[in-house]
Amino acid sequence: MKSKTAVSQYSLVHRPKTFEDVRGQEGIIREFKKRSKLNNFPSAMLFQGPTGVGKTTLAFLAAASIQCQHKDDEGNPCGECASCKDIFEESFSRGTMMLDGGSSSKDDVIQLIEQTVHSKPLNSPKYVFIIEEVDQLSTAAKNAFHKILEKPSPYVHFILLSMTEGNGNKVPVSIADRCQPYHFKNLSEKDIAYTLKGILEKEGRWEDIPTEFKKEGIFLLVNNAKGSLRRAVQFLERAMLGEFYSVADIEDNFKFVSEAAGLSILQHIIKGKSVEFNKELEEMRRENKLADWVHMVNYFCLRHRQNLIAGEDFDQSPSSSLLKKMDKAKFLVLNFKVRAMAEELRHGSYMTSTHIAHMMIDLFNGLVSEPEPPTKESIPIRGSSK
Ligand SMILES: Nc1ncnc2c1ncn2[C@@H]1O[C@H](COP(=O)(O)OP(=O)(O)OP(=O)(O)O)[C@@H](O)[C@H]1O
Ligand SMILES: [Mg+2]
Ligand SMILES: [Zn+2]
Repeated sequence: MKSKTAVSQYSLVHRPKTFEDVRGQEGIIREFKKRSKLNNFPSAMLFQGPTGVGKTTLAFLAAASIQCQHKDDEGNPCGECASCKDIFEESFSRGTMMLDGGSSSKDDVIQLIEQTVHSKPLNSPKYVFIIEEVDQLSTAAKNAFHKILEKPSPYVHFILLSMTEGNGNKVPVSIADRCQPYHFKNLSEKDIAYTLKGILEKEGRWEDIPTEFKKEGIFLLVNNAKGSLRRAVQFLERAMLGEFYSVADIEDNFKFVSEAAGLSILQHIIKGKSVEFNKELEEMRRENKLADWVHMVNYFCLRHRQNLIAGEDFDQSPSSSLLKKMDKAKFLVLNFKVRAMAEELRHGSYMTSTHIAHMMIDLFNGLVSEPEPPTKESIPIRGSSK
């Protein structure tokens, strides 16, 4: 095993620098590639969406596409010129500037923008302002900013970023309405898994990694990243540094919901054991692990679906062995509902534990609603009286 390979700072080193390298967000990427080829970027763009899904990454890529004079045929910035390096290396000493709406000097932010919007930049074609956490700007700053957006300048582009969306939206309409809006989504398990594999290949580690990590461990990381690539990449970096390859090692070190706990509560659902189910549900609710459970069972279902498609024993994991005992129609209901819950969690991550607990109780009740004859209630265990 190679131990000489140092672990790079994955999320910095592997931040995509071409449109092709950005995972998911397909519609946005297609549009931006086209815009880059045509040199046609909106003067103000608003990127909204959950954490760690590529907002800052695409802001850098768009800024570089605006500034770079040596783009390839696909509209990708060259990555080599002074403008590209200035952005990708985050020095921001040329026309591109990065500001933080959450920082204390909110009015300085506005002052800086006002100074530059009426003049042509000296050492780059345009000014590009990337403003992180635009929702955090003070009211005074927001008002001033609104005025700036009302008078677009041909030399200035704004890329505004915000993690808030939907009901939690704190970007004022006066600002949002003056921007081209882009809604970023959480990434699918598949996209995350491929990205992690790609990173390990680029780091030259894939070949040497124990099979148990490739077959099991990596999926545990993917699953617990809950749609955030940043989170997944951070998990991966830790797993590589700590050499956490087995499921047990990963569960132990990351404090994920353990697969055993996930299986146990699923078993109570399958067997219709409401007392046990409620007890464990309450425990998980207290530990704030319900969302993790939903994602885990979603993953169990996904694996078991392979059996339904590819044949009985395609997947022989403990979860699939358990799900095999379930009536197929009920499994499909479970699969459908859990997938819907996981999707909802992925898109509107504002659900409280109580809300998830209610959904799980509904799920339980739905699945055990038609009482079965007592003799068929469960597979009798030798020595147990019920
Ligand atoms: N869509 C993606 N494709 C490839 N890598 C990604 C993607 N999204 C995130 N990453 C990885 O995660 C890291 C962080 O992503 P990024 O900074 O773009 O997230 P963000 O959406 O801006 O999150 P936040 O709202 O928390 O700032 C990147 O450096 C990259 O390694
Ligand atoms: Mg960001
Ligand atoms: Zn360039």
